[in-house]
Amino acid sequence: MNVQKLIDTARTLVAGDKGLLAMDESTPTCNKRFAKLGIAQTVEARRTWRELILTTPGLGEFISGAILYDETIRQSKNDGTSFIKLLTDNGIIPGIKVDTGTKDLAGHPGEKITEGLDGLRERLSEYRQMGAGFAKWRAVITIGEGVPSRGCLEANAHALARYAALCQEAGLVPIVEPEVLMDGYHTLEQCALVTEAALHEVFGQLFRQRVLLEGMILKPNMVLPGIDCPIQADVDEVADATVSCLLRAVPGAVPGVAFLSGGQSAQLASARLNAMNVRWGSKAPWALTFSYSRAIQQPALDTWKGREINGAAAQKALYHRAKCNSLARRGEYREEMEKP
Ligand code: 13P
Repeated sequence: MNVQKLIDTARTLVAGDKGLLAMDESTPTCNKRFAKLGIAQTVEARRTWRELILTTPGLGEFISGAILYDETIRQSKNDGTSFIKLLTDNGIIPGIKVDTGTKDLAGHPGEKITEGLDGLRERLSEYRQMGAGFAKWRAVITIGEGVPSRGCLEANAHALARYAALCQEAGLVPIVEPEVLMDGYHTLEQCALVTEAALHEVFGQLFRQRVLLEGMILKPNMVLPGIDCPIQADVDEVADATVSCLLRAVPGAVPGVAFLSGGQSAQLASARLNAMNVRWGSKAPWALTFSYSRAIQQPALDTWKGREINGAAAQKALYHRAKCNSLARRGEYREEMEKP
């Protein structure tokens, strides 16, 4: 294991004003999003969409790494240039989602476990040879009546730690993603308690599996009230609840925290990240950045609608979201920037 290389890659991913672009939707998830907009659910349509994203002029100004999916990492531009080369030439590190999705956790109704450890060592080695610099694994935690259970938190944290150790062995920086879902009626305080408990479990397991904290990135949820909670929180409350929670549970050796967007609107995802950097940026031991999928891609996808004629406008929308999130890293994002 080349420790210095892992540390350098992790630091590069969260350096400057950049963040990560998650474009690792599985085929069923990508198809679901396409279906809503009447876009054909074919390999070629998915390839075209991903080519549009990756050829957005100037994307590398704001994006340090792009998380791909197994189908995508093997694909190329129309002219034959591989997506990996396209990324690398633009100074963007290619990454790869390596979990194989969630299944019901036996004996735990309503809870999920993420799978994908079997054969992972061999898959990581192949991705490394293809040119990936980092990987991602997502665990899902639901808040509801009597959940999450201790068993669910432990099983998911253990899988995340096994995955992270295997990544580092292969020379890949692990993005460790324990996502507490926004779905439900829970309050901001309940989300804070569950997120803190989940993170404590994750870092306990990472320690036991001998994961080098300096060579990983944490990808957590923001601390938010459930989407159906009658009491919603303002931007500053979310920023304070999120960073306070992380300060209690995330060791300062971790170089960066790159949030998922989790279904919040693109503008809120920028505003909340901005507030965290304005209010906590100088006090937090880790970089506070983004690793958004929907909050970067969705406005562009809504513009594109699968039609070539909309391509340039879609790339403009994507560039705009990447830029807004980069400004949010510096605490310089403003609502007025959203006006056309
Ligand atoms: P969202 O930003 O859409 O939540 O996606 C991030 C991600 O990578 C989910 O695993």
